[in-house]
Amino acid sequence: MTFPRGFLWGAATSHFQVEGHPKEIAHRLSDWARWTEEAGRISDNTTADQACQFYERFEQDLLLVKELNLNAFRISFNWPALLQDWRNSSDEKARVLDPKQVEYYRRLLGALREQGITTFATLFHFTLPEFLAESGGWENSAVVDEFEHFARLCAEAFGDLVDYWITINEPLAYAYQSFISGLWPPGKKAEYLSAFRVIRNMLEGHARAYHAIKAVNQEAMISYTMHWRPFFPQNKFNPFDYIARHFRDYVFNHLFPEAVQTGVLRFPFPLSTNPFVAAIAGRVDGLKDTCDYLAINYYTRELSKFRFEWPLDLFGERSDKAEFATNDMGWEVFPNGLFDLLTRDTMPYQKDSKGRKRPIVITENGYAATFAAELTEGDWSLSDHTRISYLLAHLEAMHQAISAGVDVRGYLYWSLLDNFEWSEGLRARFGLVRVSYPTQERLLRESASVYGRIAKNNSVEIGNFMSVRGND
Ligand code: FCB
Repeated sequence: MTFPRGFLWGAATSHFQVEGHPKEIAHRLSDWARWTEEAGRISDNTTADQACQFYERFEQDLLLVKELNLNAFRISFNWPALLQDWRNSSDEKARVLDPKQVEYYRRLLGALREQGITTFATLFHFTLPEFLAESGGWENSAVVDEFEHFARLCAEAFGDLVDYWITINEPLAYAYQSFISGLWPPGKKAEYLSAFRVIRNMLEGHARAYHAIKAVNQEAMISYTMHWRPFFPQNKFNPFDYIARHFRDYVFNHLFPEAVQTGVLRFPFPLSTNPFVAAIAGRVDGLKDTCDYLAINYYTRELSKFRFEWPLDLFGERSDKAEFATNDMGWEVFPNGLFDLLTRDTMPYQKDSKGRKRPIVITENGYAATFAAELTEGDWSLSDHTRISYLLAHLEAMHQAISAGVDVRGYLYWSLLDNFEWSEGLRARFGLVRVSYPTQERLLRESASVYGRIAKNNSVEIGNFMSVRGND
């Protein structure tokens, strides 16, 4: 399977999950840093205080990127670290980015540029400055001005070093985990209207950030990432499970991209008849067509089951059953979903309203196995054949979609390193590279060598398949 010339082979990361907290920003941590200090929030009781110490060690880690022959890399900017609370300050300097943090990101992006690596940078990857979180975060429409301000400053500071911008990472996953499941800060549960308000503010924030970046660089390539998840009825013979599947698919997958496509936020009937929901719906100024490429994160599918007593949770919930093998977090491995979304489900968004085609980049895809955070020695997890199978199966699905004419330009594996996986903590390990947290030692897993060969050859060869099948 040979990929188109110039195909981007990369890995994705986010600041909070890998960097650790630099001492000099200790007085302005994020909502997430505070969240991890609260007992019981993180399933293995770990924090991201050190994570992979990427902030100090990025130069060595970029050698791994080179060793794996990658030509693309995704980072995110630490909003809380870059911008302090300037609202009550008379000091004009408070309104600008912290020069020390700017220097860090310029060194990081500059080193990538020197290695000839295409850069992807995300402005909001789940962590809010505390002062914004305290005033309601994304629930409060005041965040929109703040986000626009941050986007403009980042475009001015880093615009020459960023190839692809991502405004907001996975808006629906964020709204769901933070306002419905309560697993992420602010930890609200079943607050559907808040979640919908967050979506509206994120659409406005995305649109304003898009125009702010374009004002600095008209040529910039800008998107947001969608977490695409196919929904299937848990029971094929139960028509109610189809209803749950239908609503969940519309809201999780289509609500945001459709709004970006049309400029109008629309909720499905009968949700749309609720006056509070109707007040959130409607036109969003400047939103239409604010998307230059499709950035898609894909991991798994959901089997949905009907639950009448939760009408606002889209009449259903995720079933804990699975038909196929799962990763250690219970995420079913379903590569066909990647083919389907590329060749069918995202078709309405693969062109702008004037009919111009948008290229696609898979900005995350990966497989987790769990190993305790305190492990240091042993050969645990270095022969990661299930990860290799996952990788190859998804590359095969993507290649089939490319052969069918879909314009996929790149693939970023999540993630280069094991890292802090939000409410799952340090033990859910997605890395091509194993990180022993107590020693910060990095060791390449077998998947890293396989992926490195694929990136080098720009193709998946029979040998790649043999390496995993031979060991099964
Ligand atoms: C995605 C997130 C990313 C990472 C992966 C496993 O939803 O964008 O930060 O946690 O899942």
